Amino acid sequence: MTVKHTLKMELGDSGYNIYLGSDLLSSSDKFFDLDCRAAIVTDSGVPKAYSEAVAARCREAKIITVPYGEENKNIDTYSYICKELLAFGLQRKDAVVAVGGGVVGDMAGFAAATYMRGVRFYNVPTTLLSQVDSSIGGKCAIDFLGVKNILGAFYQPKAVLIDTDVLSTLDARQLSAGLAEVVKMSLTSDKDLFLDLENELWKKDLTNVIYRALMIKKNVVEQDERESSLRKILNFGHTLGHGIEALGGYLHGECVALGMLPMCSSEVARKLIPILKDMKLPTDLSDIDPDAVIEYAKHDKKGNGDFCDAVFVDTPGSYRLESASFSELYERLKNSMNSEAI
Ligand code: GLY
Repeated sequence: MTVKHTLKMELGDSGYNIYLGSDLLSSSDKFFDLDCRAAIVTDSGVPKAYSEAVAARCREAKIITVPYGEENKNIDTYSYICKELLAFGLQRKDAVVAVGGGVVGDMAGFAAATYMRGVRFYNVPTTLLSQVDSSIGGKCAIDFLGVKNILGAFYQPKAVLIDTDVLSTLDARQLSAGLAEVVKMSLTSDKDLFLDLENELWKKDLTNVIYRALMIKKNVVEQDERESSLRKILNFGHTLGHGIEALGGYLHGECVALGMLPMCSSEVARKLIPILKDMKLPTDLSDIDPDAVIEYAKHDKKGNGDFCDAVFVDTPGSYRLESASFSELYERLKNSMNSEAI
């Protein structure tokens, strides 16, 4: 067991530690209070050994396996988890532990937030994307009636365990999708990290990349836990990205990669495209239906009439958070589709 970094999320009474290192799963009881009934929520895409390693450290554990995929992040799966919690006899003093990617973390977190008005929640993210982004910051949600993350809560975990060993079983496409979120954070907030990504640091020292992405996110969430202002920068690339995701065929991180391009200056896009390509992320928007993407963005929960909050990057490491019209976003999307740089 090697803990390389312990990050303290400073959120008053809701603060918690994030442990980053290797060979941590089999010692999860050193980081979480598992001397209780613990419901371990995982999905069919996660190697069983991960949830079993955590279960082995609990006084009494039940593994709840839900089907893999964003399309299952819905009220039926949420209802299934809650039924299993009831059948297990989970009490308020007990705990829910997510072992999986962002979808598992979102659903387990939402179940933990709502079951008996809130039980302890721990998160063991097993994808790069969830390790750098969704597992920390307390957002949890399910999709409903075609609207992404429309039912949810801010519910902070009690601790997060990031074991980089689990990335060895992650398929290459999922790893790339996680890198897209790292690029996102570097573009708005850390030009040095962006430069290091240009220099392929992610191939040489992924733990360092994860740590620096976590530091960006920690800093943002500590200043604006409820997303009233600064936290909106974490949605960079998501305004159009969610619309692209709704069309199907792409992973969330891939949609963020595509969704960032129209929101960058042409100077930044020229630097960004080779990085995304090197990460095996998509950069070609020419097959995307711009009308469908903008239509989705208009109905997204973050829309506001003809305008929405949007994040633009004109130089790496800085951002503009502005209200933008959907017609401007449409024009930007069309321009990126026709860009020769792709
Ligand atoms: N993933 C965006 C956020 O946590 O606010």
